[in-house]
Amino acid sequence: MCRTFRNCRALLLGLLVLPLIDGVARANEMEEALSLQPDLENGKRIYHTCAVCHRPEGWGTVDGYYPQIAGQRHKVLIKQLEDIRNRHRDNPTMYPFTLPNILGGAQDIADVTGYVEQLPMAPFNGVGPGNDLEHGRKIYQEHCVDCHGKEGEGDEQDAIPALRGQHFNYLLRQFEWIRLGKRRNADAKMVRQVRDFSVRDTRAVMDYVSRLRPPPERIAPRGWLNPDFPHYARPAEMEPLMEPPPGM
Ligand code: HEC
Ligand code: HEC
Repeated sequence: MCRTFRNCRALLLGLLVLPLIDGVARANEMEEALSLQPDLENGKRIYHTCAVCHRPEGWGTVDGYYPQIAGQRHKVLIKQLEDIRNRHRDNPTMYPFTLPNILGGAQDIADVTGYVEQLPMAPFNGVGPGNDLEHGRKIYQEHCVDCHGKEGEGDEQDAIPALRGQHFNYLLRQFEWIRLGKRRNADAKMVRQVRDFSVRDTRAVMDYVSRLRPPPERIAPRGWLNPDFPHYARPAEMEPLMEPPPGM
């Protein structure tokens, strides 16, 4: 590949420097997207791609395969998109749809995340079995509240996700992936905090979290369908959840 010392040195330097440049470019795009004013019309246009999986309302699915993204914090949405697109968080299902030739650049990211953030949230979401909530509450107060907030509202400045209104199964999966180091973009401090949780602790705290409610003004009225998608053909399993899930 490289015959002379000089060539080799150039190649090695390149191999060392390129990831650094890549890292800086990634951070720059996120900063840029954050600083731009979202164009919601363009955001709506791009959201047609996302709706295929996250549904026109952005509520995901109760089984937690697709998360609710409606109403999530702007900075969190931008960070997760950037992390997925740059393979810093593995999401093979969604990855192709985050590539620049489909999703676009910083302005498009600002636009689609601006659109998603303002969508009203699901009136109901998937919850846990409800049999160990007091234990869950205690754990949440002790280990989570400082970062994720009293109501599970997250934090914009530090890009901490809002957890309220999220489907139980999704929370459970992400939590386990974070705890076991499979979710590579996880917060290192959180990983330390939750590393030794038992199955009981984990299920109890996620059940508690899945029952934290978004503020009423952020929740869609019962029966709301996204009017931006009037002709969307929905298979039966894509119907948004109109009644509380069992146990709620
Ligand atoms: C082909 C299906 C698919 C498409 C299209 C798709 N997503 Fe996703 N998305 C997923 C899946 C599946 C997950 C959860 C992956 C996991 O469990 O880690 C996810 C996760 C996310 C998350 C992380 C949520 C969180 O709280 O951690 C965000 C943000 C997101 N998607 C936004 C979008 C946006 C914006 C678009 C459109 C540009 C989009 N997605 C298109 C399937 C898709
Ligand atoms: C030191 C701060 C901190 C603590 C403590 C913490 N978290 Fe987190 N948590 C974060 C950050 C930051 C992220 C997002 C990391 C990223 O960018 O992927 C996160 C992500 C998550 C996610 C994934 C959310 C999503 O939408 O994908 C879940 C679930 C979660 N935390 C639950 C908890 C629970 C439950 C506790 C307490 C047992 C806890 N966290 C404690 C900072 C924290």
